[in-house]
Amino acid sequence: MSHASEISDGACDHVTEFRLVRADCTWSRQTADRERGEGRLSDARIYESSSEDGVTWTVVSPIVFTYRVIQCESLLDASNDTLLFGHISSPTELQALKNNSKAMKRFIVIDETVNDLYGSQVAAYFGARGVTYKILSLPTTEENKSMTLVTRILEEVHKFGIDRRTEPIIAIGGGVCLDITGLAASLYRRRTPYIRVPTTLLAYIDASVGAKTGVNFANGKNKLGSYIPPMAAFLDRSFLCTLPRRHISNGMAEMLKMALMKHRGLFELLEKDGRHLLDSSFQPSGRMPENMHTDAASVSTRLAIETMLEELAPNLWEDDLDRLVDFGHIISPELEMKILPALLHGEAVNIDMAFMVYVAHERGFLTEEEKRRIIVCMRSLDLPVWHSDCTLDLVQKSLTERLQHSGGFLRMPLPTALGKAKIFNDIEESIMCQAFKKWCDEQCETTMKTE
Ligand SMILES: NC(=O)c1ccc[n+]([C@@H]2O[C@H](COP(=O)([O-])OP(=O)(O)OC[C@H]3O[C@@H](n4cnc5c(N)ncnc54)[C@H](O)[C@@H]3O)[C@@H](O)[C@H]2O)c1
Repeated sequence: MSHASEISDGACDHVTEFRLVRADCTWSRQTADRERGEGRLSDARIYESSSEDGVTWTVVSPIVFTYRVIQCESLLDASNDTLLFGHISSPTELQALKNNSKAMKRFIVIDETVNDLYGSQVAAYFGARGVTYKILSLPTTEENKSMTLVTRILEEVHKFGIDRRTEPIIAIGGGVCLDITGLAASLYRRRTPYIRVPTTLLAYIDASVGAKTGVNFANGKNKLGSYIPPMAAFLDRSFLCTLPRRHISNGMAEMLKMALMKHRGLFELLEKDGRHLLDSSFQPSGRMPENMHTDAASVSTRLAIETMLEELAPNLWEDDLDRLVDFGHIISPELEMKILPALLHGEAVNIDMAFMVYVAHERGFLTEEEKRRIIVCMRSLDLPVWHSDCTLDLVQKSLTERLQHSGGFLRMPLPTALGKAKIFNDIEESIMCQAFKKWCDEQCETTMKTE
């Protein structure tokens, strides 16, 4: 169906489609049937219709986002151009920037802990490259993930002054820092380009690669935010060497999510080598177990990013609500906010996934052996598989919320085999309750014993 026939609602006589052509510094409308003269043609269209109530113009203006996700090494090495120029894909633009004698400026927002560890290297990098810079170190914790920090960033950016077109704001830190800074950038002068440098595993494989920014609001997780991707995300695994073990494990939950939903090979890799990846913080290690995949760290992170991008790129604004990446994110937001800061994001996600594995088993999608393998794998990654605060009440409340915000459908992603999944709207309450009971019977006791 053409746009014109979609737009005509029967109440108007006729819809005229106009293209937009730019010539002599001005845009003008041209009907689609007219021979096109000189000038640049826009992808936008204007559809005009009239009825007895008046004239209606419907604007259809496709907006394209282009961004790069770059896995790299030695990002803070002064000889490495990536941090300054990696976001530019056009060789002509790159050359023009490099030839420009004007001193470059960069505004950097960095997580406080990351600043203690890497702040001097960041300063040395920009100092060596002759860049005028400002490093704003902030306590970007989940409890502080609010508009207060967004406003703080905006005030400082405004004081410092940047060229909105050529001087992207840089965020260096975990998912919280990247989400807050992304939101500030998307608000400043309506949309200022920004760059993400993740320093946690969760941010490396998840929070960095999509378009979402956000902060918590009214006790709701990420209730304020935008869908504005960064110009680029620069992923350097060496930051993970200082990350506490619990946070490595936390990030592995999101990796496991992609494995369970989409990639059996990634699941088997995590099953076999996941523990070693956790022990070595995804760093090159001299003491690799025999028969370990020689490059498990690069293969697993690459697969996690590729599978994530496959799901995100065609649905950046989440117009399609049927999203496999929502696995583990149905009960977890409620649970995470209820007991903040007891559980990390990935831990809450894993508890949700563990319960859903029981639901999938109860519905007959997963065998007992598959269920067992998944739970064993989760435990081997030191991830919690049950929590006393995840009550049946909380599960039911989360599902009701989900129904309200998903157009009246549950849209529940569930594994249907190892590395395969589908979205279901018809999981009966009795199945949920039986699964919940079995989950508690089997995992509560084991959890208590190991705690
Ligand atoms: N935008 C998205 O698409 C998206 C996706 C997933 C998660 N998220 C968000 O990400 C957040 C969770 O991110 P997170 O798990 O990275 O948490 P985080 O940002 O709170 O970082 C975790 C902790 O690690 C510390 N840290 C960071 N890097 C370090 C390093 N290299 N060495 C030592 N310590 C370091 C931080 O100071 C912090 O204490 C949540 O708020 C979640 O909503 C966003």
